[in-house]
Amino acid sequence: MNPDDLLNRAFELDSADPLAHWRDRFVIDDPDLSYLDGNSLGMFPRTTVHRIHEVMNEEWGSGLIRSWRKWLELPLIVGNELAPLLGADDGEVVVHDSTSVNLHQLLHAAVRLRPERAHIAVDAHEFPTDRYAVEAIAAEYGLTVISPKDESLDELDLSNCSVVVRSLIDYRTAAIADLDGFTHRARQEGALVIWDLSHAVGAIELDLHAADVDMAIGCTYKYLNGGPGAPAFSYVRSSLISDVDQPIRGWFGQDNQFAMDGAWSPKPGIGRLMIGTPSILALEAARCGIEVSSEAGMPAIAAKGRALTEFAHECCDEMDLESVSPRDASMRGSHIAIRHPNAKELTERLEREHLVIADYRDPDLVRLGCSALTTRFGDVARAVTRLAEMVHQ
Ligand SMILES: Cc1ncc(COP(=O)(O)O)c(C=O)c1O
Repeated sequence: MNPDDLLNRAFELDSADPLAHWRDRFVIDDPDLSYLDGNSLGMFPRTTVHRIHEVMNEEWGSGLIRSWRKWLELPLIVGNELAPLLGADDGEVVVHDSTSVNLHQLLHAAVRLRPERAHIAVDAHEFPTDRYAVEAIAAEYGLTVISPKDESLDELDLSNCSVVVRSLIDYRTAAIADLDGFTHRARQEGALVIWDLSHAVGAIELDLHAADVDMAIGCTYKYLNGGPGAPAFSYVRSSLISDVDQPIRGWFGQDNQFAMDGAWSPKPGIGRLMIGTPSILALEAARCGIEVSSEAGMPAIAAKGRALTEFAHECCDEMDLESVSPRDASMRGSHIAIRHPNAKELTERLEREHLVIADYRDPDLVRLGCSALTTRFGDVARAVTRLAEMVHQ
């Protein structure tokens, strides 16, 4: 197939795509731009524009301090709205702070639940925040970091391990880890797992309950389109939350928040993870993003993500480019990673010369993020064919 055939095939796929109209729900500043970086920053839902204006005018402008009566619970309300996308229940998710902060918070709490254990584990290739957090907590609690480089965490002996931090979807390759199997084995060996769902939420179907997950954290600004720096989420299994002694104490986690002289007495549920005054505008923006994905439905979103990445692989094969992402769609998140020694320069040229935004990950990967609600098959074909032209010229 030549590039024109791939572009024609993309046109057919876009015409038959049942989710194609969801793109109209987003602000499209330049229809000619092929945006393949929704795995870093999702696009801007139109409802967010209206909602933020409404909150500013009515709740902040007119309501002033009175609006805190409804804002106080917003991290929990948005958490409950997100819960179905995670396969969690009401009262198990709170949307607050950043993924990095939430990970530090849950790591402290988890390590304190396994005081007799000497190890803590994270993959050597894991996202930097996750490795840094594990290293910092290890230093504080005198634990040894087990950080396999060439071996999979699946092979690791967890019998002396307190906590494992693990991404469900690898931020480089998009490979999906075995959520059920690994959680189950860790449980049998007495270790807790904190799953990082940053590249999974809003991209694939999740059922944290079915997998019996203890704890998880993740971003809302990628596939959930929550906006730049949108607050993250924390999940803790309901039967575990009362054991969680959270270390970053603030008055929003306090049971009776306005009993100003009271000693620390955390909220009974997931609300104990709240820290200080949340950013209401950011929460409302995150809420709009979550709402769009909830409305479109995760089964349809996940199916389109697989179709887009499948097509991306088809294009790579035709154009002789090497993807390092899994070939089996059921083992792959919603991006693909193409390996090339000049990946950085190629990514820059894609944007500069071809109006294609992808992203680069050190040392040699061009990532193409396929966001089901906004990415067109045409965007994928354009990105891969332009990349191939530059590589083979
Ligand atoms: C897998 C993963 N974990 C954690 C983070 C850190 O998130 P934040 O910068 O919002 O704290 C990111 C950010 O991209 C990520 O991709």
